[in-house]
Amino acid sequence: MKAETRVATAGEGISAAASLLAGGDLVALPTETVYGLGADALDPAACAKIFEAKDRPLSDPLIVHVPSIDWLDRLAVVPEAARRLAENFWPGPLTLVLPRRETVPDLVTAGQETVAIRMSSHPLFREVLKAFGRPVAAPSANRFGRISPTCVEHVLAELEGRIPLVLDGGPCAHGIESTIVLVAADGLHILRNGPVTAEELAAFGPVHGSVAGISAPGGLASHYAPRTPLVIGEPASATDLRKSHAAGGTGVLKPCPVTVGLLSWRSAGEGFARVEPLSKTQDLREAAANLYGAMRRLDAAGLALILAEPVPETGLGAAIMERLRKASAR
Ligand code: TXA
Ligand code: MG
Repeated sequence: MKAETRVATAGEGISAAASLLAGGDLVALPTETVYGLGADALDPAACAKIFEAKDRPLSDPLIVHVPSIDWLDRLAVVPEAARRLAENFWPGPLTLVLPRRETVPDLVTAGQETVAIRMSSHPLFREVLKAFGRPVAAPSANRFGRISPTCVEHVLAELEGRIPLVLDGGPCAHGIESTIVLVAADGLHILRNGPVTAEELAAFGPVHGSVAGISAPGGLASHYAPRTPLVIGEPASATDLRKSHAAGGTGVLKPCPVTVGLLSWRSAGEGFARVEPLSKTQDLREAAANLYGAMRRLDAAGLALILAEPVPETGLGAAIMERLRKASAR
């Protein structure tokens, strides 16, 4: 039988979340990036419940969220560059991949010799960690391979009946997952683009883009995927798509048998069955914050196809395009 999922708010919700964590249970919590599904990171039995609730393969390691920066040395071997990154960007949307210590359960690292660590800046998340007093392992609070949740409604759509509690912190400020950086002797390897950009990281060492070979295990090609097929292209290609359904030779468009929705950057999206603008002012921050909600709305609209208009690939645009490419991979 399914358990009921309760939605709680600040105050009472914080102590309820901390006691569930202490009892080895799961809670969905807001972070500044996306909602996370948390469990006691040092309790393998509690972390096992995360994999179960998400249908996540055990080969995909979890990010450990620390209550304070001094936990770093208890969980990992910390090179100087990593310490400087933590001091500069924490609390905030940056995850560091470092050589692990024995304290971290194998289940959390998926048996790897590294551990991913971050410190969230979300006030509710921080209060829960303060009350709980230990690190919390938390992947995004969605079923495996699906779009990360950026508000409580998304969490419920993914995990209702599978978890006891979700703490409501409103919509997430960034709306996309943290930047993941592997700190190596030759510099910083970006395993996942995110709110902390390559440009910002460059002050801390040579930056290497995400490369095949060393990449996040969860960096599978088809991640963050809506159920509706998604293709990336200029909106003109939707016109072409419609023309291909036009009556042979007459040049007259028949009512289009395919309904195409547009995730738009610049285009007004004339002729599309549904349009979701990422940002009316072409602001990449706003676009990132809207991305997953817009993808979910298009996915729910009963369309045959979603066309995603590309965004400029600078700053946060790199992170947005990375998500769109993954959403378009089948
Ligand atoms: O913003 C975020 O990072 C959110 C919030 C909740 O903190 N969390 C999140 O977790 O996105 P998740 O599990 O959905 O994505 C974490 C990614 C996965 O692709 C995982 O494979 C990768 O991080 N990862 C975890 N540990 C790793 C490690 N030791 N080495 C390389 N990649 C790792
Ligand atoms: Mg995820």
